[in-house]
Amino acid sequence: MSKTVRLDKFLADAGKGTRSEVKKYIQKGLAEINGQTVKKPEQKVGPEDRVLFKGEEIAREPEHVYYLLHKPAGYVSATEDKRDRTVMELIPSARKGLFPAGRLDKDTEGLLLITDDGALAHELLSPARHVEKTYFVRTEGQVTEEDKERLEQGIDIGEKRQTLPAKVKLLEKEDISEEGVMRHVRPETLPEVYTELLLTISEGKFHQVKRMMEAVGKPVIYLKRISMGPLTLPEDLKKGECRLLTEEEIRKLKDAGRTSDEKSEKC
Ligand code: URA
Repeated sequence: MSKTVRLDKFLADAGKGTRSEVKKYIQKGLAEINGQTVKKPEQKVGPEDRVLFKGEEIAREPEHVYYLLHKPAGYVSATEDKRDRTVMELIPSARKGLFPAGRLDKDTEGLLLITDDGALAHELLSPARHVEKTYFVRTEGQVTEEDKERLEQGIDIGEKRQTLPAKVKLLEKEDISEEGVMRHVRPETLPEVYTELLLTISEGKFHQVKRMMEAVGKPVIYLKRISMGPLTLPEDLKKGECRLLTEEEIRKLKDAGRTSDEKSEKC
C-alpha cells in the first residue's frame, strides 16, 4: 500500500511540474481530491484517494512491481556482474530497486521472479516458509525407483541435515508433449541413457537440485524451473521474455509468503 504524501509532492512526482509550480496550480484551484477542490498544497493524499489535476485523473505508480521472467541459460541471477549478462537486462524497466527474488544457476532456465518488494521476497525465500519449487530435470543415466524413494525421503547432500522430503515424478519420454509448460525441443546430442523427471523441493539450498541428483549418481544435464509457489511458467512466455504478474497472481504469491499462523489470523 502506498504511503500518504502531500498533494504538491504527489503532483510533482506525477510529472505535473516542479514543486513550486504545482503549489501555484493547487492554490489556483486546479486540483481535486475525491471530487473536492483543494487549495492547500500540504493537504495529504492517501492510497485510496482519487486525485484530479486540471480535470484529469492522475494514475498512480504501483508501490511495487512483480515480473515473471522466463530465464534463458547464460544469464546470472544478479543485479550486476562484471563478467556475465544479468537477468536484469531482460527486464524492460529502469525502476530502481528491482532484483531477482532467489537465484537460478547461470545454466538453469525457467521461472524467475523479479521485484522491488524486498519484504515479500524475504518471506518467499525464508527457509521457514517451505514455498514449493518444481523443476523439470534431465539427468544422465536411469533414475530408479530406489533413487526416487531416496529423494522423496530426504537425502544427504553434505549439509548438516538431510534435504526435506521432495516430490518426484518420473516422466515417460512421451509425457513431455503432454506437460504443457515443459514442452521444449530435446537437444540432438543426448546421452544414450537419460531420465526426465519433475522434482519439487521446498527449500532453496545452493545448487540443491544438482546436488540431490549427484547424491543418487545421476548428474543433471538440463534444469528448468517450471513453478514457484502459486506461479507457473506460462506456456506462451518465450525464453528471455517477461511479463508483469496479474493482481490475482500477486495476491496468491503474498498468501504463499505468509505463515499458516498469519493465514489463520486473517480468517
Ligand atoms: N537447483 C540447482 O541446482 N540449480 C538451480 O539453478 C536451481 C535449483
